[in-house]
Amino acid sequence: MFVLGIETSCDETSAAVVNENKICSSIVATQEIHQRFGGVVPEFASRAHLRQLPLIIETALQRAKIDYTRLQGIAATYGPGLAGSLLVGLSMCKSLAFALDLPFIGVNHLEGHILATTAENHHPLYPYLALVVSGGHTLLVHVRHPFSYNIVGQTIDDAAGEAFDKVAKILQLGYPGGPAIEKAAANGNPLSHNFPVGLSKKDNFDFSFSGLKTAVLYYARSLSAETLQMQKKDIAASFQKAVIDALIGKSLKAAHHYDCRQLVLAGGVIRNNSLRQRFHKVCNDNGVQLFTPSPELCTDNAAMIARVGMIRMQKGERSDFELDVVPNLSLETKA
Ligand code: KG4
Ligand code: ZN
Repeated sequence: MFVLGIETSCDETSAAVVNENKICSSIVATQEIHQRFGGVVPEFASRAHLRQLPLIIETALQRAKIDYTRLQGIAATYGPGLAGSLLVGLSMCKSLAFALDLPFIGVNHLEGHILATTAENHHPLYPYLALVVSGGHTLLVHVRHPFSYNIVGQTIDDAAGEAFDKVAKILQLGYPGGPAIEKAAANGNPLSHNFPVGLSKKDNFDFSFSGLKTAVLYYARSLSAETLQMQKKDIAASFQKAVIDALIGKSLKAAHHYDCRQLVLAGGVIRNNSLRQRFHKVCNDNGVQLFTPSPELCTDNAAMIARVGMIRMQKGERSDFELDVVPNLSLETKA
């Protein structure tokens, strides 16, 4: 079943074609306009999606070596995300579905992240635990059965990716912050600063990254411009370590509590190599099987959306033209 996927929830304009277990094409255009503002400007994001999406879809079909007539369904993200950005992708999806007389389906972006690993034919067994770490979310999810998601832990303030972006701004490393921090941290000493690990104080599976961010801010402010410049890489490495320590600690604790022997990592922050290596090591040491999507399937992409759309359509699900975008859509919302 050839399915076209469309993803426009934030600042990546993406289209992809999947067919059964194969990703036939996946095109992602990152909007560079936001760099100069140090963060995503929603109005600019929607306008850029509007400009770029038709060409991105054409290119995805060309790379998949098919034309519109071969498509059997269309999937688009309908939440969570920026309202204006989501509207562009969902409206395009509905228009194409209407014009081509095809079924379409709205997909939950977070389910897309969790199932990204299955788009590459890595299938965890149920029940499993998923850790979703992106710019907007930090979630520990207990997946007991297909399509059933229970959030067992989440951030009580900033998302981990958001903390990366904000700390990069404090250290004047540019946007997006995650890759910039990773690069700076590569030459730094992670043990040089003892920043507070991003954990909620309660003995549960929640996270908290705002104290960590504030600790970095106050420390950076206490330094002269010259000293800050010299210490940037050490601060970046110590911050990165504090985030990873929190993610690993709570994931293992939750895996143990829910008796899950399999852990799926998902979301943009999972591109971080230091994080991937450390998770591999501790999971190995603790007998937990780890699933990590390849880096391009961690950050926002339409292949993961097409994948979810395809498997949901194969079990008979469809959306209708009344479907609206839901900017704060929860993973626990029943379809
Ligand atoms: O999943 P994603 O592409 O978009 C959302 O759904 O939010 O995640 C984007 C987040 C950003 O905060 C970005 O800084 C972070 O993922 N990120 C990284 C890395 N690459 C992207 N964080 C740490 N290390 C990276 N290499
Ligand atoms: Zn995302």
